[in-house]
Formats: sequence, C-alpha cells, structure tokens
Amino acid sequence: MALTPTPADKFTFGLWTIGWQAADPFGSATRGPLGAIEAIHKLAELGAYGMTFHDNDLFPFEATEAERRAAIDALKAACDETGMTIPMITTNTFSHPVFKDGGVTSNDRAVRRFTIRKILRNIDLAAELGASTFVMWGGREGAEYDFSKDIRVALERYREAANLFGQYVIDQGYDIKFAIEPKPNEPRGDILLPTVGHAMAFINTLDHPELVGLNPEVGHEQMAGLNFTAGIAQALDHGKLFHIDLNGQRGIKYDQDLVFGHGDLINAFSLVDLLENGGPGGGKAYTGPRHFDYKPSRTEDIDGVWESAKANMRMYLLLKERATAFRADPDVQEAIAATRQHELAQTTLGDGESVADLVADSSAYEDFDAEAYFDGKGFGFVKLQQLAVEHLMGAR
Ligand code: GCO
Ligand code: MN
Ligand code: MN
Repeated sequence: MALTPTPADKFTFGLWTIGWQAADPFGSATRGPLGAIEAIHKLAELGAYGMTFHDNDLFPFEATEAERRAAIDALKAACDETGMTIPMITTNTFSHPVFKDGGVTSNDRAVRRFTIRKILRNIDLAAELGASTFVMWGGREGAEYDFSKDIRVALERYREAANLFGQYVIDQGYDIKFAIEPKPNEPRGDILLPTVGHAMAFINTLDHPELVGLNPEVGHEQMAGLNFTAGIAQALDHGKLFHIDLNGQRGIKYDQDLVFGHGDLINAFSLVDLLENGGPGGGKAYTGPRHFDYKPSRTEDIDGVWESAKANMRMYLLLKERATAFRADPDVQEAIAATRQHELAQTTLGDGESVADLVADSSAYEDFDAEAYFDGKGFGFVKLQQLAVEHLMGAR
C-alpha cells in the first residue's frame, strides 16, 4: 500500500497549525510567520488535499475590506493553481480581547451581537470558497468561576446563536453544515460543551439538528481522560461525525497538539481502523477530510515544521496499512470470533419474541448456568489485543 500521500487520501491542515509561530504563555515566538500562499503551495507539494483556516489566519482582525478581499482573492488563485481545496473554515472568536468572556455566550450583549456578525460574515466566506463544513470551536465560551454566569442561560444563548446560523444558511441557500468542536478546558477553566457527549446532547435541542454535527479532536477527549475511538463510534452511531481533528495527546494535561499517533498510539490505531474499516460491510465509516490540528513543537525550525506535517500523513497511512493487515490476518479473524462479537450483533430478544416469551423461557433464567462463568467462558480479549499490538509493531 502506498505510503506517499495523495489528494485521494483527503489530508487537510489548518493554516494555524503549520503557521503556528510557537509563542506560548511562557515564551515568545520561536519561528517567523508563514503566509497562506506559501503554505498552500507547500502542502500541495506534500500531497495534501486541502487547507482550512480561521478568518484571522488569512487576514488580521483589523484588516480593511480591501485587505480582506486581496487576501481571499490571492488564496483562491493559489487554490486554482495547485488544485488544493478549502473544505472547511472557522471563525476566530477567541484571540482578541473583546472575546475575553467568550463570543456567543459572553455576559456582554454587545459582544454577542458583534460575534454573531463576525461569524455570519465568515459563513458568507465559506459559501464563496465552497467550504461545506463550518467549524465552531468555542474555546472562550466558558468560565473560571462557578458564580460568573448561569450555565443554563449561557447554553440558551449558545442555542440562540446556533439556531440563528442554521436559519441563515437555509435562507441563503448555502450548502454548509456546522461542526461543533468540544474541548474540556484551555483557554477557559471550564469550556461549555466540554466533550463529544455534551455536544451531541446539545445538538438534539436545536431547531435544525440535521445541520449541526461534530468536529471531535483526539487530544480534547483524551484531555478529559476519555477514549477517543469510543467517542467517535458514538458520534458515528448518531450520524454526527461531520469532520475530525487528528493529533496526539499524552494523557490528562494541557492540550499538547502533538503529531497524530505521537500520543496514545494504540488508540490512534483503533481510530484509523474504525474510520477505514468500520463502515457497514467493512468499508470506510467516515469519508470526509482527515484534518490535522496539531502544533509543530516549539523546538522546531521551519524544516521541522514540514517534517512534522509529513509525519502526520505518514502516521495515518502507516496505521491504515497496519489496520488492513490486521483485518486480513486469519489468526485475528479467529481471535475476533472467539470474543463472540458476532453475538453482540444479534438482537438480545429473538425475532418476534416478546418480554412474556423471555419470561417463559426457563433456559434464560431458571436453567441458565451462571456458575459456568466462574473460571470459564472467558472472552479472549487480551489475546486479540496482543495480536493488534503485534500488527501495530510490525511484528506480524
Ligand atoms: C484548540 C482547537 C482549535 C480549533 C480551531 C478550529 O484547541 O486550539 O483545537 O485549534 O480546532 O480553532 O476552530
Ligand atoms: Mn486542540
Ligand atoms: Mn481542533
């Protein structure tokens, strides 16, 4: 299998990832700026499919209309020249001081009105660029203190904004869907819609839930100690995996944004297996962009930036290759059968069987041998996991 990325792999990168100048709360930038045009040419050369950005990655917050237009037109020309796409864009509602208490959930009503205008303007830009996914990451929508706002009221304002954006794309006839990106904390002490589960429950309360899905990020769920692959499986179950942010995270700590696979490698392996082989009949479970939202570490110079960009794609392709070999291995198939996963796929009650029939079935209870499970009827999960890890290590 090819380990050289091509646009068919649908790898995309945020302009803010490769363009990160590596300033952190403790130190200044260690790299210079990277222009959008240079970035798109380099990504095309590396085999990527597209690039994504926040409005203010492309033009500054204070840009005049002419400056904004010039930046957009230059980007469009670069896309035409390279064949690169812009499948997703998003809005910066977190950098400027005006967003210090959030955007659509700020206690300050004027800030909320300004934020909605900024986002509407950016939705128009998404439509102009043919981006079909509009990510909403509410990093500043939250609080540090329990008494600083009523969370239920803040969620009402979040809902008001999401409903308004949904109605706007309907009224404008735009082919755009929204993807909420959950994160538990950072920059706020506690962020609203902190996990995949919280966000899915919120989406179900919207006027047009069909327009809104998720953009889950590997590291964000792992910062909450959660299993990312399991979260993605539930998002797929709800038909809500609209986009995905791939990166690496090593446990419950600050948002590391490492290269994909450089954190919890086993979980990255099961994720790629799910995305590539978890669909009905064993095909792809998700066909959208494989979007990398990572940060080239502060220690790296520009060569290291491009090495890390390549590393993300190579990690994905290597894991995909390993997942194919894992699924094809007869020993693995035998081990999967031994875990009785095929039984999990059967309904618990038989076709047409009622609760009364179950209650009348003495083999289900009165004659059921529960004691047989003491030192018997093991599930063989460890053997299967060992085979998975051996495939991951290239030992098989
Ligand atoms: C983060 C987030 C962001 C978002 C981006 C898209 O933790 O900083 O992951 O990188 O993905 O702002 O809206
Ligand atoms: Mn992140
Ligand atoms: Mn992200």
